[in-house]
Amino acid sequence: MNRPRRNRRTPAIRSMVRETSLSPADFILPMFFHEDAEDTPITSMPGVTRWSLESLVREAGEAHALGIPAIVLFPKIEETLKTPLAGESSNDDGLVPRAIRALKAAHPTLCVITDVALDPYNSDGHDGIVHRDERGELSILNDETVEVLCQQALCHARAGADIVAPSDMMDGRVAAIREALDGEGFTDVSILSYTAKYASAFYGPFRGALDSTPKDGDKKTYQMDPANAREAVRECLLDEAEGADMLMVKPAGLYLDIIAKVRETSTLPVAAYQVSGEYLMLKSAAAGGWLDEKAIVLESLLAIKRAGADMILTYYAKQACRWL
Ligand code: PBG
Repeated sequence: MNRPRRNRRTPAIRSMVRETSLSPADFILPMFFHEDAEDTPITSMPGVTRWSLESLVREAGEAHALGIPAIVLFPKIEETLKTPLAGESSNDDGLVPRAIRALKAAHPTLCVITDVALDPYNSDGHDGIVHRDERGELSILNDETVEVLCQQALCHARAGADIVAPSDMMDGRVAAIREALDGEGFTDVSILSYTAKYASAFYGPFRGALDSTPKDGDKKTYQMDPANAREAVRECLLDEAEGADMLMVKPAGLYLDIIAKVRETSTLPVAAYQVSGEYLMLKSAAAGGWLDEKAIVLESLLAIKRAGADMILTYYAKQACRWL
């Protein structure tokens, strides 16, 4: 008789037949920071802090020492610097370029990834430039936005970013950013494209962390409809053709089918983003004493890996390294 249980009999046998494993090298830590000298706990994300520049460098070093190869930077920009055209996004003396320089100086082997999108800089809180017609109807301008994104990516590359990660979901931005980077000699700066980024309610706590909630309207005309899977394959093929180095699916836990589809469609490395709302769900179930935090977090990360992700952006990165 065929008895699959034989392969589960002892820890030794289970360890031999295990198909998926987690290691610190799988994790990318998203980090929030601001201009203030004080560190601020983020109320919408218990256990997550918005760091001062100095603390950001220290904490990133700590993460790197745990074996985490990369971080992604998410700045909170002062309200007074936000404008409709988001010009601050390509200021070489802005918060992000200063952070990149400080991080690369302190930790040369740490891979620094930057988010390319206008929402932290845009007075409208959208990832792109907002246009309002005579009736006050709002639309997001694609090609005009892509030009600004190219300037932002160049600004990050000049400061020393290893990878730029466009999260805006404008059409054609990967090709445009690749051309802009190559044109300025940044042929070694990679593009991690948010290939399938869904218009998800699970980004709520993140927007709270950065005060970046859209002032008007939602992001459904550029982020993908959670009902669609084939469309993710279309985005994947486009990003590959446009020259992306790595692809991302976001959110992760509820979109394992999308991760698997992208994995099958492309030979490029696939990243998945366990977003703020996923973090909050796990955190609050654990805080209530209802579920075992270590067990649910490691299982959630393992499932994302099993679905086909090569790397995982997670707010649990440091904690997971300590648990492993
Ligand atoms: C914005 C951006 C968002 C996230 C990463 N980059 C929010 C959004 O699209 O509204 C969400 C991350 C998270 O929820 O953890 N460009």
